[in-house]
Amino acid sequence: MALLYQVEKAAIINVILSKHRTYHMDFFDAIKKRRSIRHFTAEPVKDEDLRAMLEAARMAPNSHNAQPWHFIIIRDRDLMSRLRDIVSAAIEGQAQTGSGSEPLDPSQLQRQKFYATSVFDAPVVVLALTHPVPSPVPNTPPKADSGLQSVSAALAQLHLAATALGYGGCWSTLPLSWARWEVEAVLEVKEPWTSAAFLSIGVPAKVPRDVPKKPLEEIVTFR
Ligand SMILES: Cc1cc2nc3c(=O)[nH]c(=O)nc-3n(C[C@H](O)[C@H](O)[C@H](O)COP(=O)(O)O)c2cc1C
Repeated sequence: MALLYQVEKAAIINVILSKHRTYHMDFFDAIKKRRSIRHFTAEPVKDEDLRAMLEAARMAPNSHNAQPWHFIIIRDRDLMSRLRDIVSAAIEGQAQTGSGSEPLDPSQLQRQKFYATSVFDAPVVVLALTHPVPSPVPNTPPKADSGLQSVSAALAQLHLAATALGYGGCWSTLPLSWARWEVEAVLEVKEPWTSAAFLSIGVPAKVPRDVPKKPLEEIVTFR
C-alpha cells in the first residue's frame, strides 16, 4: 500500500512537472529532494536540461583547476543493453565459480544484479572519467585521488542539477566493480583516463523509501 502510494505520488508529480520540465528548485530543497532513483518512466531527458546539468558539472571545484574530467553520455538503447549484458555476465560468472571467494547465493545474485544494472534502465547514463592530477610537491607522482575528488564534486553537482530540474538518477560504481575492463573496452576509455562512476538520469517512476542519515551530532566535531 505504502509502495503504491509512493508510485502514485511520483506519477502525479511527474504529470505536473512534465508540462514545465525546465524549472528551478530552491537549492536546499534540491539537496533534500535528491535521492538515488533506480526506476524511471519512459519520458526522455530534454537536451536543454541535459546541457544545464553538464554545465553545473563543468563549474565544480577541482584540483589546480585541472578539470580532470570527461563525461561520456550514453543514450543509445542497444549500447545500454550491451553494457547491462556485460555486467550481468560478470555477476553470473562469479555466482557460478566464486572466482576465489564465496559463490553468490540466488538472493545475493538478484541484489547484485539490480544494484549493478538498474543504472542502464534510465534514458540517459553518464560515465564520468578522470585522470591523475600532477602533484604540487616536486618529485612526487601525480595524485590519482585529486582527480577522483574533482570528478566526484562535478558528479555531485550534476546529480543535484538533475534533481532541481525534476529528474532523478543514481550514482553507480558497482558496474565498474564487476566489469571495469570490459565496460572501458566497449566505451573506448583510453589512458590516462579511468572511469570514476556512472550516473543515470531520467524521470523518477518511483521515489525510494527514506534512508537513515546520521545526525549532525554524530558526524561533526567543533573545536
Ligand atoms: C560512490 C558511490 C557509489 C555508489 N554505487 C551505487 C551502485 O553501484 N548501485 C546503486 O544502486 N547505488 C549506488 N550508490 C548510491 C547509494 O547507494 C546511495 O547514495 C545511498 O544508499 C544513500 O541513498 P540516497 O542517495 O537516496 O540518499 C552509490 C553512491 C555513491 C556515492
